[in-house]
Amino acid sequence: MVRTILRTRGIGRRFAGVTALDGIEADVRAGEVLAIVGENGAGKSTLLKILSGVLAPSSGSIEEVDEHGHAHELRLRSVAEATQVGIALVHQELNLAEHLDLAGAILLGREHHRFGWLDLRSMHAEAARWLARVGLDLDPSTLCGSLPIAQRQLVEIAKALSANARILILDEPTSSLSARETDRLLAMLDELRRSGVAIVYVSHHLDEVLAIADRAIVLRDGRMAGTLERASMDRATIERLMVGRDLPPTTARPSLGAAPDRLVVDGVVTSHRRRRPASLVVKRGEIVGLAGLVGAGRTELLEAIAGLGHASGTIMLDGRALSGTMAQRVARGLAIVPEDRARHGLFTLDPVRTNVSMAWLPRGAHVGMVDHAGERDLVDGMITRLRLRPSDPARRVQTLSGGNQQKTVLGRWLAVEPSVLLLDEPTRGVDVGARHDIHEAIRAAATTGCAVLFASSDLEEVLLLADRILVMHDGAIAGELARESATEVAIMGLATGGALEAAR
Ligand SMILES: Nc1ncnc2c1ncn2[C@@H]1O[C@H](COP(=O)(O)OP(=O)(O)OP(=O)(O)O)[C@@H](O)[C@H]1O
Ligand SMILES: [Mg+2]
Repeated sequence: MVRTILRTRGIGRRFAGVTALDGIEADVRAGEVLAIVGENGAGKSTLLKILSGVLAPSSGSIEEVDEHGHAHELRLRSVAEATQVGIALVHQELNLAEHLDLAGAILLGREHHRFGWLDLRSMHAEAARWLARVGLDLDPSTLCGSLPIAQRQLVEIAKALSANARILILDEPTSSLSARETDRLLAMLDELRRSGVAIVYVSHHLDEVLAIADRAIVLRDGRMAGTLERASMDRATIERLMVGRDLPPTTARPSLGAAPDRLVVDGVVTSHRRRRPASLVVKRGEIVGLAGLVGAGRTELLEAIAGLGHASGTIMLDGRALSGTMAQRVARGLAIVPEDRARHGLFTLDPVRTNVSMAWLPRGAHVGMVDHAGERDLVDGMITRLRLRPSDPARRVQTLSGGNQQKTVLGRWLAVEPSVLLLDEPTRGVDVGARHDIHEAIRAAATTGCAVLFASSDLEEVLLLADRILVMHDGAIAGELARESATEVAIMGLATGGALEAAR
C-alpha cells in the first residue's frame, strides 16, 4: 500500500548569503523509494537534513499525513525528535564516534539496561544481528575508529536499520561501497520497501537510481528541476535536468610507447594484516587503475607507497628508492589524495584558499617569503579548472557540499604538479559533470608525465580513466587488464578470485 506519510510545503533554507533550498515540494510515501538527485551543491544533503531534524528550514513546513489523509505540521527540533517519530538518517559525511565500539555506536541512545547497569551482553547480541544484516562479520566490541571507510558506512546503515525507522533517509550510502556491497544494500532497501518503509535516497550513481527508485526529484541550484515517475525516468532525462549542459567529450590519451618506468613497487607487504606481497609498475604519463572488492587491500597499498603505516618491500621513484616518512616522500614529488577526506585530507575550519595552497606554499615561497600573488593565481586557477562551487576562495571548507570538498583536496595535490599521484576513490560523492572535470584534470597531469595510480570501487570510472587496470584480491595483484580488453565482468572475475580458482 503506497501512501504519502510525509510532505514538504515550499521548504527553503538559507545559509549566510546562500540560498541552499527554495520552494521544495516533496512527497514521501510508505513502500516507495524516493531518489533525490542533482549536481554537487544542488541542496540534496540540506533537504535530507531538514527531513531528519538536523537542520530547521528557513521557510515552508513539513507535514505528517496520517492514514486518514489528515495532515498536521511536524516541527522537528532535533535528531532525537525525528528518531521518535520514526525518521532515521544515514549521513553523507560519516560521523560515527570513533572511540565507541560497534555495539555502542549502533545502539547509541538506545542502550540496554539490566538492574540499572548497561547490559553489554544483550547489546552485543543485538548489534551482532544488525551487523550480520548488512553483511559485516565483525565483533561488536571492535572500535569504530579502526574500521576502513566502507565498513564504517555499513555500520552507519546498520545503526539506522536498528532504529526500526518508518522513514529511512540515506545520503550517498553506496559512495564507498564496491559493486558487490552495493548490490547487497540495494536488495536490502528493496526488502524494506516491500515491508512498507519509506526510503529517501541520494546517489550520484544514476544506474542505482534507475534500478531502485519509484520516483526521483531532480534538484538544481536548490530548486525543483523536475519530479520523475518511474516510467519517465531514464539516464538522459535525469542528466539533462540536473546538469543543464552537455558534457564535452573526453580528451584522447596519447600512446605511451616506450615511456620509462616512474613508480616501481616490488614485493610490498603491509603490516596491517598478513597480506601477500604486491608488485606493480606505473610508467611516466600512465594512468593505472586499482580495482578490487572492499577489503582487497587497495587503500593499504596506496598508503604503503605514500609512507603511511609500516610496510616491507621496495618502492622506487625514477630509479631511486622512495622511503622515509610521508613528508619526505612528498618532498620527492609524491602526492596522495586519501579516501577519507574528512580524516586525512581537509582542514575543514579553514578556507578553500589555504586548503588548496598548503602543499604548494613551500615551493612557491622565495627565500622564505610567501608569494601572495602567486598563491592567489594558483588558487583561482584551481577553482576555475575544477569548477569549484561556490567559486569563493574565502569559503570555509566545512560549508562546501561533499563533492566540492573532494575537489578541494584534489586541487591541493594537483597544484604541486607531482611526479606520482596516488588517488583513493578520486570521485567519491562527485556528480557526473564534476567527475568529468576531475578526470580531465587527472589526464592533464598524466600528459605532463605524472604517473597516476588510482583506486576506485566504481567500475565505470576504472574503465573510463585507466590506461591499464590491476585487480587486487586478498592483498595481492590478482591480474592485469589492458584498457581495450577490460570489461566489468572480467574485473569482477579477478576481484572475486574467480580466475585464481579457474587456474588451479
Ligand atoms: N553550513 C553551511 N553554511 C553555508 N553554506 C552551506 C552550509 N551547508 C551547505 N551550504 C551550501 O548549501 C548548498 C547546498 O549544499 P548541499 O550540501 O545540500 O549540496 P548537495 O546537493 O548535498 O551536494 P553534494 O552532491 O556535493 O553532496 C551549497 O552551496 C553549500 O555550499
Ligand atoms: Mg550532499
